[in-house]
Amino acid sequence: MKYLVIDSDEALDPGLRADLLDTWVAATNAGGAVGYTPPAPVEQIAENLDGALGRVAAGLDLLGVLHTGERYAGMGLLVSRGSWLQEHWRTVLRVMVHPEHQGNGAGRVLMEGLRGSAVDLGLEQLQLTIRDGLGLEKFYVPLGYRVVGTHPRAIRLAPDDYRDEITLVQDL
Ligand SMILES: CC(C)(COP(=O)(O)OP(=O)(O)OC[C@H]1O[C@@H](n2cnc3c(N)ncnc32)[C@H](O)[C@@H]1OP(=O)(O)O)[C@@H](O)C(=O)NCCC(=O)NCCS
Repeated sequence: MKYLVIDSDEALDPGLRADLLDTWVAATNAGGAVGYTPPAPVEQIAENLDGALGRVAAGLDLLGVLHTGERYAGMGLLVSRGSWLQEHWRTVLRVMVHPEHQGNGAGRVLMEGLRGSAVDLGLEQLQLTIRDGLGLEKFYVPLGYRVVGTHPRAIRLAPDDYRDEITLVQDL
């Protein structure tokens, strides 16, 4: 599995979009915490993906992807907050690996690639949030992130199903 950075002029490539949409839909249907619950709302995810790719094309955010040799099968974004007060760090968003390729170290390759991209950008920190209750700290903490806070009941999956949102930070 190879980590690649997508340049702004590659971000609107239809083949990239198709593979990332498939990855996002499959990760959602497999129970992944990437903004939606199963069954994956494909139109909404497509709209969200197009917005994200548009920001990459505009040079605002960085998109790191995984390529199997045949197709794109993972992604993560380094999203800028847009404030000059916060130019020294970015939020890592939409971290996902296609379910067919999970559990073999691909996620680690992706996160190490994103870390390298952040260093190349001259950033000092990366921040991300996770949904509590899925054990995702066990993925991020060995990669150098530490828990810095919890927002109780920040995520409402259903009218009677709230989850805390945990914030993690990595110093670069
Ligand atoms: C989270 C995700 C990116 C990890 O990718 P992956 O390729 O499965 O992870 P890796 O195989 O590189 O795992 C690296 C280590 O993290 C652990 N790990 C991976 N996913 C984990 C999870 N969901 N919970 C707990 N530990 C996890 C692995 O056991 C492994 O530990 P080890 O080195 O002791 O064996 C992937 O499972 C995924 O896409 N999930 C769905 C989307 C999602 O929930 N994204 C997180 C958004 S915050």
